[in-house]
Amino acid sequence: MLDLSNMRSALAEHYDLEPSVEKAEATYDIYDRMDRVVTPADWAIFAPYVIEINKLKKERDAVILAHNYMTPEIYHGIADFVGDSLQLAIKATEVEEEVIVQCGVHFMAETSKILNPAKTVLIPDSAAGCSLAESITAEGVAQMRAKYPGAPVVSYVNTTAEVKAASDICCTSANAVQIVDAMESDTVIMTPDQYLAQNVANQSKKKIVFWEGSCIVHELYTAEDLRAYREHDPDIKIIAHPECTPDVVAEADFTGSTSGMIQWVRDHKPAKAMLVTECSMASNIADSLPEVEFAKPCNICPYMKKITLEKVLYALHTMTEEVVVAPEVADKARLAVERMIDLSRSLAR
Ligand code: 13P
Ligand code: SF4
Repeated sequence: MLDLSNMRSALAEHYDLEPSVEKAEATYDIYDRMDRVVTPADWAIFAPYVIEINKLKKERDAVILAHNYMTPEIYHGIADFVGDSLQLAIKATEVEEEVIVQCGVHFMAETSKILNPAKTVLIPDSAAGCSLAESITAEGVAQMRAKYPGAPVVSYVNTTAEVKAASDICCTSANAVQIVDAMESDTVIMTPDQYLAQNVANQSKKKIVFWEGSCIVHELYTAEDLRAYREHDPDIKIIAHPECTPDVVAEADFTGSTSGMIQWVRDHKPAKAMLVTECSMASNIADSLPEVEFAKPCNICPYMKKITLEKVLYALHTMTEEVVVAPEVADKARLAVERMIDLSRSLAR
């Protein structure tokens, strides 16, 4: 486990990380992408880290893949590629640099390692888990198979490599309905998100049986809260993630993956919007959409927020923490993830 005080003294020995107005001014082009949501005083703290990370990234031949839930200073300041889980997985297959630094949660880093095993994959804090990934083991998948013999197992990418290896195919929030519909069987097992499964069931003819995991961030939103927002502001557009409960999804004007949600707002440019998901999403797109006012019913993912600039710098400095997946597990998990990517691509044609 990461020892924060060791980390800080090691960094202080090698880098000048004191807040600096000069460094903030020298990186104004980067700050410009987030000045609606990051104060100049905060940027004076972040800029020295951003400068060192961007320098070290080149020296280490590293690329930073960041999820849409990263904070603005990571998303705009140091990421080479940003996206939802599906986009990050596809990007991981294309990386040519030697090192991938995954700014996201552990299952995302594992997916990158599974898909591109020759690369060194680093996660700045391996304690960046996920309540969904933690809700099920390969044994749980076996129990579902025993209960519903012959039904294929579609596992959300928010799972460990072992669970992926025990599944027939993966899905993400961007393709779950299409993947489930493409299964030959009338009954499909979905793990581990009960709400994603119920939301897919509402759009599919398949009989879906599911594991009862949930996302601790999205399950907090209630349909009642959303109705209160709408009552106060009838023109507000409500955009929800499919990890929300079906009641919440029913209140939304649009439901999609994190990148799907962003795209919807870019395409429609509503005067007021509410992203029913993790807090940083609205912050990350606020500067590029000045015409949109975001209501922020803000729930934070404590796992995603374990990834910080200082941990990214330390990861590149020490080349830790390296993500390792046993080859026999990775080989099976790769089949499930690649089946999803191939099917997604063929369905999109
Ligand atoms: P996306 O694949 O939509 O980015 O979702 C990942 C996630 O963890 C949402 O909570
Ligand atoms: Fe997992 Fe929910 Fe956090 Fe996404 S927001 S990483 S599903 S706990």
